[in-house]
Amino acid sequence: MIKKGKLLNFTSIFRFGYPFHTNATLIKLEESNLMKTNTVKFFDVEIGDKSEIILTYKLNKKDIVYGLGENLGGLNKRGKKYRLFANDDPLHTPEKEALYGSHPFLIIDGKKSFGFFIDYPSEILFDIGFTDFDTLKITILKAEFDLYIFDSENKKDIIKEYLQLTGTPYIPPKWAFGFQQSRWSYYDSKAVQEVANSFRKKDIPCDAIYLDIDYMDSYKVFTVDDKKFPDFTNLVSQLKEDGFKLIPIIDPGVKVEEGYDIYEEGKDKGYFCKKQDGTDFIGTVWPGQTNFPDFINPEVRKWWGNLYKKIVDCGVEGFWNDMNEPAIFFTPDGLSGFKEEYEKIKDNPNVGFDFFKIKDKVLGISNRGEDYKNFYHNANGKKICHYDLHNLYGFNMCLATSEGFKTFQPNKRYFLLSRSSYAGLHRFCAIWMGDNQSWWEHMLGHIKMLISLNMCGFFYTGADVGGFGGNSSPEMVIRWMQLGAFTPLYRNHSALGTRQQEPYAFDSDTEDIIRNIIKFRYALIPYIYSEFMRSVIELSPFISALAFNFSDDTSKNIEDQFMFGSSLMVCPIYTPNTRGRFVYLPDVKWLKWNVSKYDERKFKVFNKGSYFIDTKLDEIPVFLKENTLILMGKPSNYVGEKETKELSVIGFVTDRASFSYYDDDGISNSYNDGKFSTINIIVEKKDDKYKIHAKVEETDNFKTKIKKLKFEIYDDKGNIFIKSIDLK
Ligand code: GLC
Repeated sequence: MIKKGKLLNFTSIFRFGYPFHTNATLIKLEESNLMKTNTVKFFDVEIGDKSEIILTYKLNKKDIVYGLGENLGGLNKRGKKYRLFANDDPLHTPEKEALYGSHPFLIIDGKKSFGFFIDYPSEILFDIGFTDFDTLKITILKAEFDLYIFDSENKKDIIKEYLQLTGTPYIPPKWAFGFQQSRWSYYDSKAVQEVANSFRKKDIPCDAIYLDIDYMDSYKVFTVDDKKFPDFTNLVSQLKEDGFKLIPIIDPGVKVEEGYDIYEEGKDKGYFCKKQDGTDFIGTVWPGQTNFPDFINPEVRKWWGNLYKKIVDCGVEGFWNDMNEPAIFFTPDGLSGFKEEYEKIKDNPNVGFDFFKIKDKVLGISNRGEDYKNFYHNANGKKICHYDLHNLYGFNMCLATSEGFKTFQPNKRYFLLSRSSYAGLHRFCAIWMGDNQSWWEHMLGHIKMLISLNMCGFFYTGADVGGFGGNSSPEMVIRWMQLGAFTPLYRNHSALGTRQQEPYAFDSDTEDIIRNIIKFRYALIPYIYSEFMRSVIELSPFISALAFNFSDDTSKNIEDQFMFGSSLMVCPIYTPNTRGRFVYLPDVKWLKWNVSKYDERKFKVFNKGSYFIDTKLDEIPVFLKENTLILMGKPSNYVGEKETKELSVIGFVTDRASFSYYDDDGISNSYNDGKFSTINIIVEKKDDKYKIHAKVEETDNFKTKIKKLKFEIYDDKGNIFIKSIDLK
C-alpha cells in the first residue's frame, strides 16, 4: 500500500507500508495527512518475487546521477552497482559495492532534474545504468519505507530541502579545523608524548592526537590500561597545556569477561542484542568474544552515553566511534561452517576446485549477512531482526554519545567522529571515510567522496590522509597533505605495521614542504571557519562540485576539482611523478595561486578555459574566483594559541566583491543565542580605483578581537592595491 503527502516547498513523501521510524528526518507527517495512491512520481513500481520493491526510472542519455554519500565509483554514479548495507571492508577496490554508511539521497541532473531520498534502514540495491545504461533500478528489500521526492530543477535547492528535512549539519569545536595526527600503534603514554613533542620541537602545528585501541586494557571498551597509561588524567592535561586534544577510540563490542563491570551491568540489565532464543548474541572482535549493545533501545543509549563521562572527566573532549557497522570478525556459526569445509578437504591432497570453497568461506567469514540475521533488537518492546535495521547501528551508537555529551556539557560543543553512518547522522556527528589504502587512486576517491558527502550534509569530513593501509611514499604523503589542507577534517592516520607517515617521518625536504602546507592551513582558518559556518546557516554544501556552481556542460564532467567555500577552487594533484595537471576554469576569470607558503603569493590571472598548470612538488593549484575575497591570519602551533587581532583580506576584484567574516568563541553552542559577530566587507572597483567598506556587526554578547584588516586586492591586469584599515 502506498500513501502520499506533501511537505516543505517542493517535497512529496510516498509511504510504503508502515516503516520503522529511523530518526533520519526531523519532520514527521501524521498518517492522517497522507492519501492513498497507486503511482509514484517519476518511478515505475514493481513487486519482486520475494516481495521486494523495485523502483525504475528511465534515464536520459545525458543524465547525471549524483549522490549516495560515502561510496565508491565516480561523482557521477552512473555505470555501476551499489549496495547500501554498512560494511567493514578495508579493501576499497573498484568492484566493491558498499562502504561503511548508507546515504540513500540522490539527484538526477539532466533533461528532467529532481532529487530523492529513500528512508529505509536495511539493504538497498542500486543499479545505476550498469545492466542497462538507460535504466536506474532500485531494489528495496521490504515494502516498508518512505520515499521523498524533491521536485526542483535546482540542485542546491534540492540539497537545502533535504537538509531542512534531515537537519542542520554538525558543527565541531573550532580546534577541530586544525591538523590532527593519528596512528594505530601509539602504544603508551611515552609514545603519545613523543608525538606531541615532535610536533612542537619541529614547529609543525597540530591540535589533536588520537588514541587507537592500544590505550585500553585488553581492548575492553571504556577502560584505560594503567600500565601503559599510568596517569591518564595527567597526560590529558599536560597535552592540553601544550595545545593538544587527545581523542580516544571507542568500539561498540563489550568484552565477555566475568567481573568486567560494563559487561556485568549490560548482561544483568538485558542491554545486549539477543539471539532468537533470548540469549546474548556473541561475535568476535578485537577483545575476543563480545556482546553488542542494543542501541535501538533508548534506555541502552542513555546507559552507553553516560559511560563516556568517565573519560570526559579525565579532560577528554572528543571521541571516534569505530567498528560500529557493527564489524564482526567471526561468530561461532561462521566458524563452524568454515570448519566443515576444511574437514572435507583436509586429507585430500588432490583437492582442486574445492580449494576455492574453503578460501571463499575464509574470506567471507567476517561481517556475514547470516550473522546479522541472527540477532535482534528491542524496539519499544517489539523484537526486530538486526538485518532489518542494520544501517542504523552506528547511527544509534553515535546518538547515544551525543545525547551523553549533551547531558554532561549542555552548552559545549563536542568532537565526535564515526565510521558507520546513516542519513541524518550529519546533525550530531562527523564521519571519516574508513580504511583507505596508501594508493594514489584513493586520493581521487577522497575528492569524490568529499563532494558526495557534503551533498548529504556531512560538511565536516575527510579521509585518512596518507592512506591507512599499505606504505606511503614521501611524495604521496606530500600530495595527500596538500589535499587534506582543503578538507575540513584534516587527519593523518595509518595502520599498525605500515610505514610511519607523520609529517616528520621522512627526510627534511619532505618535512619542510609539509610544515609549510600545514602552516598555510592554519593561516586559512579564518576563511575556512567563516565559510563553514555560512554553509551550515545557508544549508549549502561547504565543499561542492563545479556542476553545483556553474551551469555550463563541461563543469558537469569535472570530478577532480572542487569549490572550497565560495571563493576558492582547489585542483589537487593526485598522481605520482607529476609536475602539473589540467584544470578547467569555468565562467569567469580566476587568480591562480600555486600554494606552498601561506605568505608567498604566486599569482597569475587566467581567463575561463582549460589549461595545463605547471605545479612543483611543494605546490598545490588553487584558484581565487573573480570578484571574491578570502581572509587569512597567521599560523600558530594550535587553534586559539594566540589572540588574532589582525587579518589579511586577499581579493581578486574586477568589479565588486564581498565577504562576511564570522567569529564566535569556537567552543560553546552560544552562537545559537546570537553570541557571534561578523565583519561585513565590501570591495568595489570603479574607474580603476578601489573603495573599501568594513563594518563590524556585533552585540554585547560577543565582541570580535579583530582590530585591523590589511587589504591585498588584485585586479585582472596584475595590479595590486594595498591598504590597512582599523576597525571601530
Ligand atoms: C579500524 C579503523 C581504523 C583503526 C583500526 C584499529 O580498522 O577503521 O581506523 O585504526 O580499526 O582500531
